[in-house]
Amino acid sequence: MTTHKQLVLSGMQPTNTLHLGNYLGALKNWVRMQSEMPCLFCVVDMHALTQESGYAKADDVRRATREVTAAYIAAGVDPARTPIFNQSQVAEHGELAWIFNCVARLGWLDRMTQFKEKSGKHKERSSVGLYTYPVLMAADILVYRATHVPVGEDQKQHLELARDIAQKFNNDFGVEDFFPQPEPVITGPATRVMSLRDGAKKMSKTDESDNSRINLTDSADTIAQKIRKAKTDPNPLPEDKKGFEGRPEAENLVNIYAALADTTPDAVLGEYGGKQFSEFKNALAELTVARIAPIADEMRRLLADEAEIDRILKDGAQKARAIAAPIIAETKKVVGFVG
Ligand code: TYM
Repeated sequence: MTTHKQLVLSGMQPTNTLHLGNYLGALKNWVRMQSEMPCLFCVVDMHALTQESGYAKADDVRRATREVTAAYIAAGVDPARTPIFNQSQVAEHGELAWIFNCVARLGWLDRMTQFKEKSGKHKERSSVGLYTYPVLMAADILVYRATHVPVGEDQKQHLELARDIAQKFNNDFGVEDFFPQPEPVITGPATRVMSLRDGAKKMSKTDESDNSRINLTDSADTIAQKIRKAKTDPNPLPEDKKGFEGRPEAENLVNIYAALADTTPDAVLGEYGGKQFSEFKNALAELTVARIAPIADEMRRLLADEAEIDRILKDGAQKARAIAAPIIAETKKVVGFVG
């Protein structure tokens, strides 16, 4: 039994623009959790440096950091109640990551599927940062002793690693329950939103086809067009979820609808089962525009005042540091650092 107070932490990488998968898989749940427990939301700019082939140009990181911050706020995270900050402003993340690098085992990191996907055929040319990325992620969470981590399905393995690191640290240093076992919170009908062009691929910021995703900054027209063009099959929608067998594109669009409408895939099929995709796509386009376009408008408004965004990040970082500093001080004592 853990004695740790409930605390939520999650984060997103400032890489390209956020998309519907980030919103439905994570951000939408963050907004809800704000009224359930204290939360901290981070823009993980240090993780953004692990991106391939020089993407991490300084201007891109800066622009994306402010854009992701604006997206959090536009979606409903309230900076007056919930600290929003960029990781690099809280040095304790990096300090704990080093200690955790000495706790995590190579064999554990070798099993990480995201590293395998991102490094592709050229493992030896990948940065060491990309390899040790999940260790920094564990530090992001445990530097606050966060207990709940709302994320999409793709982060599950990284969360399991964070739990293993916490456990091994506690065992190795003989400090029972020093770090909690953080719980992944993976909820809702759209924990893994798929590409609009290929139901076997995850919707991703780095897919080269812009039609594969709905960006949070897309205009109403672009959103509607992308949904109309989304890949489907020639059959009508199934009557129930069993009919999704072999029809990943149909399943994806229904899950997106259910998540946006705060209902279940069964309820959506109750209404649209047996109908043609053309009719369903019109309804989905309308719903997506109604939910996403206001976020884009609010992001544009917020981004017009960069100084205010920077102020919010600084203020959030100060509050985050106040929580992390005593935990890092204790951790350093536990591992034997003098000072
Ligand atoms: P990132 O930036 O890739 O994604 C941010 C969040 O969006 C979710 N997500 C999706 N959910 C559903 N369908 C999709 N297609 C989809 N694509 C992305 C992700 O699961 C994530 O919740 N490693 C993290 C960032 C991170 C972090 C942390 C998260 C760093 N430190 C500490 C939580 C706690 C990442 O790369 O997310």
